[in-house]
Amino acid sequence: MMEKKIVYFEKPGEQNTDDTLRLAVERARELGIKYLVVASSTGETAMKALELARSAGLELVVVTYHRGFYEEGKDSMHPEIEEKLRKEGVTIVRQSHILSGLERSISRKLGGASRTEAIAEALRALFGHGLKVCVEITIMAADSGAIPIEEVVAVGGRSSGADTAVVVRPAHMNNFFDMQIREIICMPREKRK
Ligand SMILES: Cc1cc2nc3c(=O)[nH]c(=O)nc-3n(C[C@H](O)[C@H](O)[C@H](O)COP(=O)(O)O)c2cc1C
Repeated sequence: MMEKKIVYFEKPGEQNTDDTLRLAVERARELGIKYLVVASSTGETAMKALELARSAGLELVVVTYHRGFYEEGKDSMHPEIEEKLRKEGVTIVRQSHILSGLERSISRKLGGASRTEAIAEALRALFGHGLKVCVEITIMAADSGAIPIEEVVAVGGRSSGADTAVVVRPAHMNNFFDMQIREIICMPREKRK
């Protein structure tokens, strides 16, 4: 048995970014975890994570939106930030989103929702967007080969910034139910904005 600290933020959102990243890095160090997996659309949150990860000796893996998420053929990450991150040796994962996938196009066109989207919505409703993002980016990072299947710390947020961090045992897309959220480091108490 062990007793551990969980930090609860009052509300979801980017105002929690600095605390979330600090707590995520602290827990990774405590547990001897090597990889910090962070969601970052524009690259802003990744830049905030960079120094912290560096000084803690962690490998930073940044998962960003797939190309075309906002606009056909365009990336969400600011190119100058992406260049800086790559120069610093940060791994950037940009691939199709696991918890929406091709089904998103079908739902948009024909209505209804897929089983995958139902999982995503359940995670969002019960635990908040940030935790759904932690689950999704961990699978994306594992499937792209950026992380091994060993405990990592994952960080996600509500639209921008970060408000949730977990210790997670990753799984690949074809073995979703092998995934385990081992520790919640921080999350918002109130799930809606
Ligand atoms: C693959 C992926 C999926 C995401 N899904 C959601 C989501 O379902 N809901 C949400 O509020 N934010 C979502 N986000 C946003 C992230 O949680 C995070 O707040 C954001 O990427 C940070 O970007 P920034 O660096 O521009 O601050 C997602 C981000 C990524 C990369």
